[in-house]
Amino acid sequence: MAKIIGGLTSSHIPAVGNAIEQGLTQEPYWKRFFDGYAPAKAWLAENQPDVVIVVYNDHGLNFFLDKVPTFAIGCADRYENADEGWGLKPVAPFTGDAELSWHIAESLVEQEFDICTCQEMKVDHGFVNPLRALWGTSDPWPIKTIPLAVNTVQHPVPSARRCLQLGHALGRAIESYPEDLKVVVLGTGGMSHQLQGERAGIINVEFDLDCMEKIISEPQWLTQFSNDEIMAQAGTEGIETIMWLVMRGALQPQVKLVHKHYHVPISNTGAGLLVLDNQ
Ligand code: DHB
Ligand code: FE
Repeated sequence: MAKIIGGLTSSHIPAVGNAIEQGLTQEPYWKRFFDGYAPAKAWLAENQPDVVIVVYNDHGLNFFLDKVPTFAIGCADRYENADEGWGLKPVAPFTGDAELSWHIAESLVEQEFDICTCQEMKVDHGFVNPLRALWGTSDPWPIKTIPLAVNTVQHPVPSARRCLQLGHALGRAIESYPEDLKVVVLGTGGMSHQLQGERAGIINVEFDLDCMEKIISEPQWLTQFSNDEIMAQAGTEGIETIMWLVMRGALQPQVKLVHKHYHVPISNTGAGLLVLDNQ
């Protein structure tokens, strides 16, 4: 049977892709941020997952504001990357696992999560940058990927509580797949940031650190807040952090913390990284 061996989180800041592309990762601005990924890379190298489910939000590349599914899953064997406006050079296409995707979609719908299925899906920085930071940039990529998109852009956005529940259903979906696969779930985005309006530039270190701590051992903590309350604390784009709950919900109630790293700021954002062992 498929087994979820662990969960990871990573912010997905566009500038990270450009820093990698331009060979800046050991420059003073970037060094501490990228060095924080070394223990995560080591854990992945040791545990060798076959598939990563990438929980991310599309930023206007695959879904524009005229049509935004609340939850969507890629059901393809290949996903192309493209730049949605940050000047990022597209990376090699990703290999999917359509059979596992369809199994997950069927199981989620059975569990009353009526997810949108996409047989074509272009992936943006929200998906690509965490993979580049964690696995390095390569062609071909060393792991199969399944995109799971959560709307955190166009309101109404799902609640933190709903995201945690989706995670529970996702965990059951993956672990009912008969093939012996090692799966990791990656929650991307966040942490606190706001890119527009009067409060552009706000970062809330205290809230970010609370979120990181609570997501490890008490993920329901974030579900006490409405989306308005989360945005008041973490900025309008800080709402992306609810996607981490989809990852966390897919794991066991008790997990082993392998690695935790927080760096602030990268671009406009508090950047958080977690590695949780589910075995
Ligand atoms: C930034 C962060 C994001 O999550 C994003 O989608 C775009 C920009 C930033 O910090 O610049
Ligand atoms: Fe984002």
